[in-house]
Amino acid sequence: METTTIDEVQALEARHVLQTYKRSPVTFVRGQGVRLYDADGREYLDLLSGIGVASLGHAHPGLARAIADQAQTLIHTSNLFYHPLQGQLAERLARLSGLPRAFFCNSGTEAVEACLKFARRYWHARGEPRAEFIAFENSFHGRTFGALSVTSNEHYRAPFEPLVPGVRFVPVNDPKALLAAVSRSTAAIIAEPIQGEGGVRPLTPAFASAITEAASNTGALIIADEVQSGLGRTGYPFYAPVIGLHPDLISIGKALGGGVAVGAALVSQKVADTIAFGDHGSTYGGNLLACRAALCFLDELDTGGLLGRVALVGDHLERGLRAMAARHPLIKEVRGAGLIWGLELTRDAAPVIQQGLARGVIVNRTAETVVRLLPPLVITEPEIDEALGRLDVAFGAVGADE
Ligand SMILES: Cc1ncc(COP(=O)(O)O)c(C=O)c1O
Repeated sequence: METTTIDEVQALEARHVLQTYKRSPVTFVRGQGVRLYDADGREYLDLLSGIGVASLGHAHPGLARAIADQAQTLIHTSNLFYHPLQGQLAERLARLSGLPRAFFCNSGTEAVEACLKFARRYWHARGEPRAEFIAFENSFHGRTFGALSVTSNEHYRAPFEPLVPGVRFVPVNDPKALLAAVSRSTAAIIAEPIQGEGGVRPLTPAFASAITEAASNTGALIIADEVQSGLGRTGYPFYAPVIGLHPDLISIGKALGGGVAVGAALVSQKVADTIAFGDHGSTYGGNLLACRAALCFLDELDTGGLLGRVALVGDHLERGLRAMAARHPLIKEVRGAGLIWGLELTRDAAPVIQQGLARGVIVNRTAETVVRLLPPLVITEPEIDEALGRLDVAFGAVGADE
């Protein structure tokens, strides 16, 4: 690879990369575990893992070996043919989720898109076409048209309207409003068990039980979007059942490939029974490389004992964050579970992110006032202490400026 200076990297992007991202001025060139290194050799503790993707940390030896081996064997053949890994991955996901069938795609938004289409397909097959979806305020489900249509943020939606019609947004954690909104025209209710981009806001069990009640009153399907909250992030395979939600469809992505692009829609048998050949598809979805990476991640998660460890280190992280909140009055609330946490601030979170970066810790801002943490699932207690030490200094610097 040609070596270039940071200025050259940034200038080249400024000329040729579509300017949809406002990047922080850092160029990462290497990673190891929970650490990232920039082009100047500076080290950072990564409490974000590429927005919940680098679940096994960076340059994980087992994942690197699996990907290299698969690349030297066979990467892609398309879904016109069988290969040995897709069924194995689907079986593993079925065991984890309780939903027997998987459709593979390449990202979170495609997983949501598939769930929305399968919900429509279900009602079409029953001869009772239902077009409406119920979604929630503060929701984020992705950027393609269907997923964007059930995403509440006006800033993301407005430039692209008209979106898919028939979506109603209901205030989150408001059981009465939900029960009033869901009807026999509702195809599905789509919920993030923990709203991630919306500011790390878990649904309450009372709200989850209202979703269940509304669905059983009307037949509406339940879609749990676990792209961010799923696959061990909370210390559980999925967060929906933890709050008492039993979805007909689950969307997953992010952590599944440990950095290799792979997503999936997990589907109940009653929905799967309404899907026919040709109803949906993807050229890349579930190719050998993606499945091999995902199988390696799942090996670590269950047989490798990662899931149990997340619960333990998650408790440690929570204690550290609550202690930090007690020291810094600008932290109003601490929300989350396992290794997904949001610190709600009394102000814009951007300066904390910048100060953190300057001190070698990576977190990000979401919903304007929230500092979000999504560390690699392999993070250890000493690494958490070291990272929180740096974040504490960053909070001190921002607090001192007030
Ligand atoms: C809950 C949820 N759904 C869907 C998506 C979209 O995933 P992707 O960016 O992989 O398309 C995200 C991304 O942040 C998400 O958090």
